[in-house]
Amino acid sequence: MNFRVPLRPLIVTVLAVLAGMAVISAIESTPGHAQNPSPTPVKRCEISFPLPNPSDIGTRKFEQLLYAFIDQGCYRSWVADSQIRNTGPFLNGTSFGTHNAVKVFYSPEVWDWLKHKDRQGEIPDGAIIVKEMFPSPAKEGSKLSAWTIMVKDKKGSYDGWYWSFHAPGYKPDNPDIDYPDSGFGLYCLRCHASAEKE
Ligand code: HEC
Repeated sequence: MNFRVPLRPLIVTVLAVLAGMAVISAIESTPGHAQNPSPTPVKRCEISFPLPNPSDIGTRKFEQLLYAFIDQGCYRSWVADSQIRNTGPFLNGTSFGTHNAVKVFYSPEVWDWLKHKDRQGEIPDGAIIVKEMFPSPAKEGSKLSAWTIMVKDKKGSYDGWYWSFHAPGYKPDNPDIDYPDSGFGLYCLRCHASAEKE
C-alpha cells in the first residue's frame, strides 16, 4: 500500500499547527508582552493629550482631569530621564537634593523646545513636565511616592505655569481649607521663580 499520497498533507498540516502554537507561546512569554510596562498606572490611558487649559475650564475641574491623566500613566510614553536619579549631593548620608530622587518626563512640546529649539522662544500652552518622585537615594525599582507636575498655561498667571502635587491614592483631608496641592502661584515658585525664564 502506498501511504505517501494521503499522509503528506496531514503531516504538513500538523507541523504547521505546531509551529503556529510555538510562535504564539514564544510571543506570550516575551517580557513586557501583555503586561503594563509601568509599575504605577492601574488603568489604561483613556484621556487624550493635550488637556484643556486650566484657565479655560477652571482649576478644580482641571485638577481632577490631571490626576486621572497621571494615575492612568498617560505620560509614560514621553521622553524621560533614562533612570531614576538624585537631585543633589549626599553629605554624611543626608540628601541635599532639592527634590527627592526623580525621573522626569517631558511632553513632546517641551522636548521640542529643549532639544530642537535650544530653549529659545516660548513653550506652548498645554505642554507638561511630569516629575515622578522616589525615596532617596535613587535606586532603580524604587516605589513611586508622588508626582510633581508643571502645566504651561500662559494666561493663567504671571509666571505662566500651573503647578501640581499628586500622590498615589492621596486625597486632601479638607480640600476647602487645606493649602492647595495644585493650582497657580503655589509654593513651588519659592524655588522655581529663580529660573531665568520659562
Ligand atoms: C526647594 C526648592 C523647590 C521647590 C519648593 C520645588 N521645586 Fe521643583 N525643582 C527644583 C529644582 C532645583 C529642580 C531641578 C532638579 C533637577 O533636575 O535635578 C526642580 C525640578 C522640577 C521639575 C522638573 C523640571 C525639569 O525641567 O526637569 C518639576 C516638574 C518640578 N520641579 C515641579 C515642582 C512642583 C510642581 C513643585 C511644587 C509642588 C516644586 N517643583 C517645588 C526646586 C524646587
